[in-house]
Amino acid sequence: MAAVETPKRTANGTEGGGPPRGRRTTILAAAGALVAVLLIGSAAILLATGHAKDGSAVGGPFALTDGNGKTVTDADFRGKYLLVYFGYTFCPDVCPTTLTAVADAIDRLGPDGKRLQPVFITVDPARDTPAAVKQYVASFGPEFVGLSGSADQIAKVAREFRVYYAPHRTGPGPNDYTMDHSSILYLMGPDGTFVAPLRADGTGADLAAALKKAMS
Ligand code: NI
Repeated sequence: MAAVETPKRTANGTEGGGPPRGRRTTILAAAGALVAVLLIGSAAILLATGHAKDGSAVGGPFALTDGNGKTVTDADFRGKYLLVYFGYTFCPDVCPTTLTAVADAIDRLGPDGKRLQPVFITVDPARDTPAAVKQYVASFGPEFVGLSGSADQIAKVAREFRVYYAPHRTGPGPNDYTMDHSSILYLMGPDGTFVAPLRADGTGADLAAALKKAMS
């Protein structure tokens, strides 16, 4: 299973076809790869056990911006189950597939689906303005809330949810990058506490079944 999505690397493991950029780049890349491995391990433990590696709570208070420019906090969602997913609107594959499955699962849940609020939080705030995120999630269904924020706000909420994300350069231009990121659905309870991590790589039917069980 892939709890972290990573775009395909070139055959030699470097980014693009430019000249070697020296030792410092190599060391940074190696350090980044190590961090990625550790975080992917943490994601796997979270999915397997339902608990973060250090046993502490998953999730926490956040303040982000919705598509209307309004500040939204975790407290605004009390009383509903939250299904939280971190991704970015330029994601070529995994994010759209996951959000399509979420929309399908909610349809399949029928009336129970109304107890669930799907929330998409961008890990690419530099490109994903609140308006861009709003437009993106609307293409999956009217029930979605899309949130963005400052780089610091996104870093904080990602830390709270143990989400790994990092830009992956695909060329020299400022927008020539994809984002590596964790791909886990987080189910939070009506009181805001963490209920369960759910796999993001299944079908809508798989996810509906998992949600039904977790919300009962
Ligand atoms: Ni993605």
